[in-house]
Amino acid sequence: NSFFTPISGTAPATSPRRNTKITVVGVGNVGMAIAQTIITQDLADELTLVDANSDKLQGEVLDLQHSAAFLPRVKINASLDYAATANSDLCIVTAGARQNPGETRLNLLQRNVALFKHIVPPLAKYSPDSIILVVSNPVDVLTYVAWKLSGFPANRVLGSGTNLDSSRFRFLIADHLDVNAQDVQAYIVGEHGDSSVALWSSISVGGVPVLSFLDRQQIPYEKKTLENIHKEVVQGAYEVIRLKGYTSWAIGYSVASLARSLLRNQRRIHPVSVLAKGFYGIQGGDVFLSLPAQLGRRGVLGVTNVHLTDEEVEKLRNSAKTILDVQSQLGL
Ligand code: NAI
Ligand code: 2OP
Repeated sequence: NSFFTPISGTAPATSPRRNTKITVVGVGNVGMAIAQTIITQDLADELTLVDANSDKLQGEVLDLQHSAAFLPRVKINASLDYAATANSDLCIVTAGARQNPGETRLNLLQRNVALFKHIVPPLAKYSPDSIILVVSNPVDVLTYVAWKLSGFPANRVLGSGTNLDSSRFRFLIADHLDVNAQDVQAYIVGEHGDSSVALWSSISVGGVPVLSFLDRQQIPYEKKTLENIHKEVVQGAYEVIRLKGYTSWAIGYSVASLARSLLRNQRRIHPVSVLAKGFYGIQGGDVFLSLPAQLGRRGVLGVTNVHLTDEEVEKLRNSAKTILDVQSQLGL
């Protein structure tokens, strides 16, 4: 373009640095919260949005483009056609039905599996080297479905899983102890949902293991309080859905944190939904559920060998069984 005159001595243009491209499928509450967090955090050079609803898609993309003067530069495209997603580094799937107040995540399964059959194969075709990150619910079973439909190796298919539940957990513990949630290390593992497992034995605040600290200080063991905190985590999404109809902001930040770890090769540990067969004695089939996993540019780099008590292992296996029971109805 002739808008600028090159300064003398400028080397001829070489091929530019390769862009980071993210695709988000589904521009509902969740897809848009993720898209706007990705943009504000400058995680992509190119963002492609796909949805089945043309007007909603065009409206959302225009609205985002109109904020260009206030944001890091990013090329935003929208299309009903998956050809526009070609060569994505990361494909995030948020399309699908969401829960009505009181409805469980597992109840969404049949509707969302039907959609995934139209979404995942074209994503895999146009971006065969990408990482697929599933957010739609029930996220663990749908991550398995995406793995099957894509034919990708398991390290390049993951679900947002309990990264969100763990953030809710850290917030509640931080609130209870009056500390900053970023200083609370605590994991929820297993199913993103009702059978999730809180890893009480590994909670630490500023490097101090919480349970042994409470024991040492002879503070009455707050087992009831701790159990109530986990119940609040499980109920958290139901409560937000009852009050505002859907959840969006926390999942937006949760997924952006995963996108950063993956695309910027941060090697950070996140509880996310990964192929869990064989870990902690989980058997019975290929099941995806959340375990603390290290994430980098190649996707899931490995699962952390965190110590679980016998009771936690038992609960984790039960969570795996819950997911496998649902999965066995799929016939995939
Ligand atoms: P929404 O109803 O606001 O948006 C869903 C979008 O999917 C709509 O724009 C719709 O047009 C689109 N869509 C439907 N069929 C499609 C298809 N075949 N291809 C492309 N797009 C299609 O729903 P919301 O609130 O955004 O939730 C989306 C999903 O995310 C739900 O399954 C919900 O349960 C899940 N979710 C998962 C969370 C997690 O932690 N894993 C957190 C919050 C929501
Ligand atoms: C959430 O936990 C509903 O899965 C969704 O916010």
